[in-house]
Amino acid sequence: MIPEKLSEPPRDCPLCPRLHQFIAEWRTREPDWFNAPVPTFFSRDGDDSVRLLIVGLAPGLRGANRTGRPFTGDYAGELLYATLKSFGFSTGEFQARPDDGVELIDTALTNAVRCVPPENKPVGAEINTCRSFLKLTIQRFRNLQAIVTLGTIAHQSTIRALGARVGDHPFSHGGRADVGNIAVFSSYHCSRYNTNTGRLTEEMFVDVFRNVAEYLAAKRG
Ligand code: URA
Repeated sequence: MIPEKLSEPPRDCPLCPRLHQFIAEWRTREPDWFNAPVPTFFSRDGDDSVRLLIVGLAPGLRGANRTGRPFTGDYAGELLYATLKSFGFSTGEFQARPDDGVELIDTALTNAVRCVPPENKPVGAEINTCRSFLKLTIQRFRNLQAIVTLGTIAHQSTIRALGARVGDHPFSHGGRADVGNIAVFSSYHCSRYNTNTGRLTEEMFVDVFRNVAEYLAAKRG
């Protein structure tokens, strides 16, 4: 069993010098912000209840990096938390604050890269380094059955974290890759850019979660 503390980077994680430096700068500029690796948000019923893991890209500067909860405080969270609630993966009224009372049900939410990257763009070495935490996060939830990856970077890092080859499981929106006993469902990232440009519509996003909900319901039997 993987204890929670091993799957979470320490608050002053030094592994990616560029991200460590970026966070140090924001600690000076905004001392009241979270400004640290953002931990996985997971089901109120504990690790063994988690059957679904959602993997985002990285904390947004004024979103998760400010508030300390994945997808909380910037645009990307609005559609995600609304969709989670509509399929029963969460309860409570999302108010974009970590103390809004939202609780995940049998679900966990994390990022491929835990620290906020400049311009929202982690580099390859940072994605690879932070994958050690993603791997341990996946192992920590021993009843995990499905993963939703948001965007190509999250998809590829998740496939690698599962020990599979990206060439065998390329990203495709709405696609599903079965790796061992885990089904990986891929979606375009629910960023403002993707929804504003029409690359991702609300309907497309909801359809991915409908597939996931049906998959998990069938597994439950
Ligand atoms: N906030 C996150 O925590 N992750 C993302 O990928 C985007 C916004």
